[in-house]
Amino acid sequence: MSAPLVVSRHPLVLHKLALLRHRDTPPPLFRNLVRDLSQLLFYEASLDLQTATVMIPTPLEECPSHQLTQRIGLMPILRAGLGMAQAIHESIPDARVWHLGLYRDHETLKPVTYYNKLPPTVDVDVCYVVDPMLATGGSAVAAIDILKRWGATRIKFLGLIGAPEGVRLVQAHHPDVPLHLAALDSHLNEHSYIVPGLGDAGDRQFATC
Ligand code: PRP
Ligand code: URA
Repeated sequence: MSAPLVVSRHPLVLHKLALLRHRDTPPPLFRNLVRDLSQLLFYEASLDLQTATVMIPTPLEECPSHQLTQRIGLMPILRAGLGMAQAIHESIPDARVWHLGLYRDHETLKPVTYYNKLPPTVDVDVCYVVDPMLATGGSAVAAIDILKRWGATRIKFLGLIGAPEGVRLVQAHHPDVPLHLAALDSHLNEHSYIVPGLGDAGDRQFATC
Protein backbone atom coordinates (compact mmCIF):
# COMPACT_ATOMS: atom_id res chain seq x y z
CA MET A 1 0.00 0.00 0.00
CA SER A 2 1.38 3.43 -1.01
CA ALA A 3 1.49 6.60 1.04
CA PRO A 4 -1.16 9.07 -0.04
CA LEU A 5 -1.15 11.06 -3.24
CA VAL A 6 -2.76 14.38 -2.31
CA VAL A 7 -3.86 16.59 -5.18
CA SER A 8 -4.96 19.95 -3.82
CA ARG A 9 -8.51 21.10 -4.49
CA HIS A 10 -8.02 24.46 -2.75
CA PRO A 11 -9.71 27.19 -4.82
CA LEU A 12 -6.68 29.48 -4.57
CA VAL A 13 -4.43 26.69 -5.82
CA LEU A 14 -6.74 26.01 -8.76
CA HIS A 15 -6.94 29.69 -9.66
CA LYS A 16 -3.21 30.32 -9.46
CA LEU A 17 -2.41 27.13 -11.32
CA ALA A 18 -4.43 28.35 -14.31
CA LEU A 19 -2.33 31.52 -14.41
CA LEU A 20 0.88 29.52 -14.02
CA ARG A 21 0.03 27.25 -16.94
CA HIS A 22 -0.86 30.10 -19.31
CA ARG A 23 1.71 30.36 -22.10
CA ASP A 24 1.67 34.17 -21.94
CA THR A 25 2.51 34.41 -18.24
CA PRO A 26 5.89 36.19 -18.10
CA PRO A 27 8.73 35.00 -15.85
CA PRO A 28 8.25 37.59 -13.03
CA LEU A 29 4.57 36.63 -12.61
CA PHE A 30 5.44 32.95 -13.09
CA ARG A 31 7.94 33.15 -10.20
CA ASN A 32 5.36 34.88 -7.97
CA LEU A 33 2.85 32.15 -8.75
CA VAL A 34 5.41 29.41 -7.97
CA ARG A 35 5.97 31.16 -4.64
CA ASP A 36 2.25 31.40 -3.78
CA LEU A 37 1.46 27.85 -4.88
CA SER A 38 4.44 26.43 -2.97
CA GLN A 39 3.36 28.13 0.24
CA LEU A 40 -0.22 26.90 -0.17
CA LEU A 41 0.94 23.34 -0.89
CA PHE A 42 3.35 23.37 2.03
CA TYR A 43 0.54 24.53 4.30
CA GLU A 44 -1.44 21.43 3.31
CA ALA A 45 1.57 19.08 3.41
CA SER A 46 2.75 20.21 6.84
CA LEU A 47 -0.52 19.52 8.70
CA ASP A 48 1.07 16.58 10.53
CA LEU A 49 4.16 18.38 11.86
CA GLN A 50 4.52 17.83 15.59
CA THR A 51 4.29 20.56 18.20
CA ALA A 52 4.91 20.71 21.94
CA THR A 53 3.03 22.84 24.44
CA VAL A 54 4.98 25.76 25.85
CA MET A 55 3.92 28.57 28.19
CA ILE A 56 4.08 32.00 26.56
CA PRO A 57 3.79 35.25 28.51
CA THR A 58 1.39 37.57 26.70
CA PRO A 59 1.25 41.19 27.95
CA LEU A 60 -1.69 40.03 30.14
CA GLU A 61 -0.79 36.58 31.43
CA GLU A 62 0.89 33.28 30.62
CA CYS A 63 -0.94 31.01 28.19
CA PRO A 64 -0.26 27.55 26.83
CA SER A 65 0.86 27.70 23.20
CA HIS A 66 2.49 25.45 20.61
CA GLN A 67 5.98 25.25 19.20
CA LEU A 68 7.24 23.11 16.33
CA THR A 69 9.51 20.35 17.64
CA GLN A 70 10.82 18.79 14.43
CA ARG A 71 13.82 19.89 12.43
CA ILE A 72 12.73 20.52 8.89
CA GLY A 73 14.79 20.02 5.74
CA LEU A 74 13.92 21.46 2.35
CA MET A 75 15.55 19.61 -0.54
CA PRO A 76 15.06 21.51 -3.81
CA ILE A 77 15.94 19.61 -6.95
CA LEU A 78 18.00 22.10 -8.99
CA ARG A 79 17.26 24.12 -10.65
CA ALA A 80 13.47 24.39 -10.95
CA GLY A 81 12.95 23.48 -7.28
CA LEU A 82 14.75 26.67 -6.19
CA GLY A 83 11.66 28.88 -6.42
CA MET A 84 9.62 26.42 -4.39
CA ALA A 85 12.27 26.06 -1.66
CA GLN A 86 12.74 29.82 -1.36
CA ALA A 87 8.98 30.30 -0.93
CA ILE A 88 8.63 27.60 1.72
CA HIS A 89 11.74 28.89 3.50
CA GLU A 90 9.95 32.22 3.94
CA SER A 91 7.19 30.38 5.82
CA ILE A 92 9.58 28.33 7.90
CA PRO A 93 12.83 30.27 8.19
CA ASP A 94 14.48 27.81 10.61
CA ALA A 95 14.41 25.02 8.01
CA ARG A 96 17.68 23.71 6.61
CA VAL A 97 17.99 23.77 2.85
CA TRP A 98 20.05 21.04 1.17
CA HIS A 99 20.24 21.45 -2.59
CA LEU A 100 20.29 18.40 -4.82
CA GLY A 101 21.65 18.99 -8.31
CA LEU A 102 19.94 16.69 -10.80
CA TYR A 103 19.08 17.22 -14.41
CA ARG A 104 17.26 15.02 -16.84
CA ASP A 105 19.50 13.99 -19.73
CA HIS A 106 17.67 15.07 -22.89
CA GLU A 107 18.44 11.86 -24.77
CA THR A 108 18.23 9.11 -22.17
CA LEU A 109 15.72 11.03 -19.99
CA LYS A 110 17.58 9.55 -17.00
CA PRO A 111 18.51 11.82 -14.07
CA VAL A 112 22.16 12.86 -13.78
CA THR A 113 23.40 13.94 -10.34
CA TYR A 114 25.84 16.87 -10.38
CA TYR A 115 25.58 18.42 -6.90
CA ASN A 116 25.07 17.00 -3.42
CA LYS A 117 26.60 18.52 -0.28
CA LEU A 118 24.57 16.68 2.34
CA PRO A 119 26.50 16.52 5.62
CA PRO A 120 27.78 13.13 6.86
CA THR A 121 24.90 12.64 9.30
CA VAL A 122 21.20 13.39 9.03
CA ASP A 123 20.44 16.71 10.71
CA VAL A 124 16.67 16.99 10.08
CA ASP A 125 13.60 15.02 11.15
CA VAL A 126 11.37 15.62 8.11
CA CYS A 127 12.56 16.15 4.53
CA TYR A 128 10.46 17.90 1.89
CA VAL A 129 11.76 17.23 -1.62
CA VAL A 130 10.52 20.07 -3.83
CA ASP A 131 10.41 20.17 -7.62
CA PRO A 132 7.63 21.74 -9.70
CA MET A 133 7.47 18.93 -12.27
CA LEU A 134 7.06 15.20 -11.68
CA ALA A 135 7.27 13.88 -15.23
CA THR A 136 8.78 10.38 -15.67
CA GLY A 137 9.53 10.48 -11.93
CA GLY A 138 13.20 9.63 -12.53
CA SER A 139 14.51 12.79 -10.84
CA ALA A 140 12.21 12.44 -7.81
CA VAL A 141 13.12 8.76 -7.34
CA ALA A 142 16.85 9.59 -7.61
CA ALA A 143 16.51 12.44 -5.07
CA ILE A 144 14.62 10.24 -2.61
CA ASP A 145 17.21 7.45 -3.12
CA ILE A 146 19.95 9.95 -2.16
CA LEU A 147 18.06 11.03 0.97
CA LYS A 148 17.37 7.44 2.06
CA ARG A 149 21.04 6.46 1.55
CA TRP A 150 21.89 9.49 3.72
CA GLY A 151 19.65 8.03 6.44
CA ALA A 152 16.49 10.17 6.16
CA THR A 153 13.39 8.30 7.25
CA ARG A 154 10.53 10.81 6.91
CA ILE A 155 10.34 12.19 3.39
CA LYS A 156 7.57 13.95 1.47
CA PHE A 157 7.55 15.09 -2.15
CA LEU A 158 5.94 18.41 -3.11
CA GLY A 159 5.40 19.26 -6.77
CA LEU A 160 3.20 21.60 -8.74
CA ILE A 161 2.23 19.33 -11.65
CA GLY A 162 2.59 15.57 -11.87
CA ALA A 163 2.03 13.00 -14.60
CA PRO A 164 0.50 9.59 -13.84
CA GLU A 165 3.74 7.97 -15.06
CA GLY A 166 5.80 9.88 -12.47
CA VAL A 167 3.39 9.16 -9.64
CA ARG A 168 3.49 5.44 -10.47
CA LEU A 169 7.31 5.37 -10.57
CA VAL A 170 7.69 7.12 -7.19
CA GLN A 171 5.02 4.94 -5.59
CA ALA A 172 6.69 1.78 -6.95
CA HIS A 173 10.16 2.74 -5.64
CA HIS A 174 9.18 4.64 -2.51
CA PRO A 175 5.71 3.60 -1.33
CA ASP A 176 6.37 5.26 2.04
CA VAL A 177 6.72 8.77 0.55
CA PRO A 178 3.54 10.90 0.38
CA LEU A 179 3.14 13.00 -2.75
CA HIS A 180 1.53 16.45 -2.66
CA LEU A 181 0.66 18.05 -6.01
CA ALA A 182 -1.30 21.05 -7.18
CA ALA A 183 -2.45 19.07 -10.25
CA LEU A 184 -2.27 15.59 -11.73
CA ASP A 185 -2.21 15.93 -15.51
CA SER A 186 -3.15 13.58 -18.31
CA HIS A 187 0.07 12.08 -19.73
CA LEU A 188 3.61 12.63 -21.03
CA ASN A 189 4.26 13.52 -24.67
CA GLU A 190 6.92 11.90 -26.87
CA HIS A 191 9.61 14.12 -25.26
CA SER A 192 8.38 13.17 -21.77
CA TYR A 193 6.94 16.64 -21.17
CA ILE A 194 3.81 16.78 -19.06
CA VAL A 195 0.59 17.39 -21.05
CA PRO A 196 -1.08 19.84 -20.70
CA GLY A 197 1.57 20.89 -18.13
CA LEU A 198 3.19 24.30 -18.34
CA GLY A 199 6.29 23.70 -20.48
CA ASP A 200 9.74 23.81 -18.91
CA ALA A 201 9.45 24.98 -15.30
CA GLY A 202 13.12 25.94 -15.01
CA ASP A 203 13.16 27.95 -18.22
CA ARG A 204 9.91 29.73 -17.36
CA GLN A 205 11.17 30.74 -13.90
CA PHE A 206 14.58 31.89 -15.02
CA ALA A 207 13.71 33.27 -18.48
CA THR A 208 16.05 30.88 -20.24
CA CYS A 209 13.78 29.59 -23.00
C1 PRP B 1 12.91 19.13 -14.79
C2 PRP B 1 12.08 19.22 -13.52
C3 PRP B 1 12.44 17.94 -12.81
C4 PRP B 1 12.61 16.98 -13.95
C5 PRP B 1 11.36 16.17 -14.05
O1 PRP B 1 14.21 19.49 -14.55
O2 PRP B 1 12.32 20.36 -12.77
O3 PRP B 1 13.62 18.03 -12.05
O4 PRP B 1 12.77 17.75 -15.14
O5 PRP B 1 11.49 15.18 -14.99
P1 PRP B 1 11.47 13.64 -14.62
O6 PRP B 1 10.34 13.44 -13.66
O7 PRP B 1 11.23 12.99 -15.95
O8 PRP B 1 12.80 13.28 -14.03
P2 PRP B 1 15.32 19.53 -15.72
O9 PRP B 1 15.96 18.19 -15.87
O10 PRP B 1 14.71 20.12 -16.94
O11 PRP B 1 16.44 20.45 -15.11
P3 PRP B 1 16.43 22.02 -14.79
O12 PRP B 1 15.51 22.23 -13.61
O13 PRP B 1 17.85 22.29 -14.45
O14 PRP B 1 15.94 22.76 -16.00
N1 URA C 1 10.40 19.15 -16.88
C1 URA C 1 9.67 20.27 -17.08
O1 URA C 1 10.11 21.36 -16.71
N2 URA C 1 8.46 20.16 -17.65
C2 URA C 1 7.97 18.97 -18.02
O2 URA C 1 6.82 18.93 -18.53
C3 URA C 1 8.73 17.81 -17.83
C4 URA C 1 9.95 17.93 -17.24
